[in-house]
Amino acid sequence: MRSFIVSAALLAAAASAAPAPASSYGGGQQPFKFPLANGFPNIKAPSNTLTNIETQAHGTLPNGALPTKLSANSIATFSVIAANELFEVAYFTSLIKNITHGVQGYEVPASDKDYILKSLTAIRAQEELHAIGANAILASAGGKPIAPCEYVFPVDNFQAAISLAYTFTDVVLGTLQDVQAGLIANGDGELVPLIGSIIGQEGEQNGAFRAFDEKIPSELPFLTRSAGAFAFSAINQIFIVPGSCPQSLLSSIPVFGALAVDTMNIQPKDQTLTFSFENTKGVKVKDLSLVYINQQNTPIVEKICNVKTKGKMVTFDATFPYSANLMNGLTIAAVTNSAGPFADADAVAKDTLFGPGIIEIN
Ligand SMILES: *[C@@H]1O[C@H](CO)[C@@H](O)[C@H](O)[C@H]1NC(C)=O
Repeated sequence: MRSFIVSAALLAAAASAAPAPASSYGGGQQPFKFPLANGFPNIKAPSNTLTNIETQAHGTLPNGALPTKLSANSIATFSVIAANELFEVAYFTSLIKNITHGVQGYEVPASDKDYILKSLTAIRAQEELHAIGANAILASAGGKPIAPCEYVFPVDNFQAAISLAYTFTDVVLGTLQDVQAGLIANGDGELVPLIGSIIGQEGEQNGAFRAFDEKIPSELPFLTRSAGAFAFSAINQIFIVPGSCPQSLLSSIPVFGALAVDTMNIQPKDQTLTFSFENTKGVKVKDLSLVYINQQNTPIVEKICNVKTKGKMVTFDATFPYSANLMNGLTIAAVTNSAGPFADADAVAKDTLFGPGIIEIN
């Protein structure tokens, strides 16, 4: 129980801190910068360095032919995937370093340390291969490989870091479902199995993170769906140091305004939650709705109540209908400019102004 509390609180804090300069994260944290000691992300294929990464990852990059042509939408999708995988490599590199050096807050029991480091080292190498693979697809299919940005991580202890890891991995797992649907819709369905192999892989990671945190490994019967714009917005709002990306990443993918979940310590029960956002767009709050995406269910639309405005900051309440829907695992909250009804996460993303608010229960 302890950690989802930590994670909801941290993510709320991170989301509300999102527009602030990087120096306000993690108590003046130094941003994480690439390259890694092995030169990643600049890895030649073939090379001894790549072979070393593959050995650590317990397997190889796919050795079949790369696609030589993809739709513009699929190029944008693989750009988001590459951007996300680069961030994940940064995150796990920082985490491994903290645990290895026993940084304050990251002292894990000696009996667990080897297993945790062995797992995280393989996971980091696997993420390196995901990033190299996505960039190789971009290069081969007429896109532009994605270069890394600088990153900050709004956590300062092992438990919070693990809880944040399975929370953002949940967002990725939801987004990759949407990636598969998009690849098929755009005539690039031959890449669906590759994405399926990554979904399973990231799910295995999440089972381990949840177990490190004493949660049951499998969180839901049907994992929560997400959409590329939610994942991309979350990475930008929470982790990327503003202005640090060498290329204007992806103009076709929107970055929403941040939506903070202000209620801490969210329990598995029906309740009212409080949210806030900075109304930089000057929208009329009475025209907005709050939408929850959980599992494979139709998005739930709630009324925005009890609105309070202070300068540009808007705080409001919305019902969280836990018990009728068993809203465990990841719930994505979004403030939309319509009341739907929405068929799925993608439809919600199209009408989203602020989000994702990230809620993780059990
Ligand atoms: C590593 O430790 C530093 C110092 O506490 C912290 O700022 C950073 O967020 C940690 N990284 C991760 C991924 O937990």
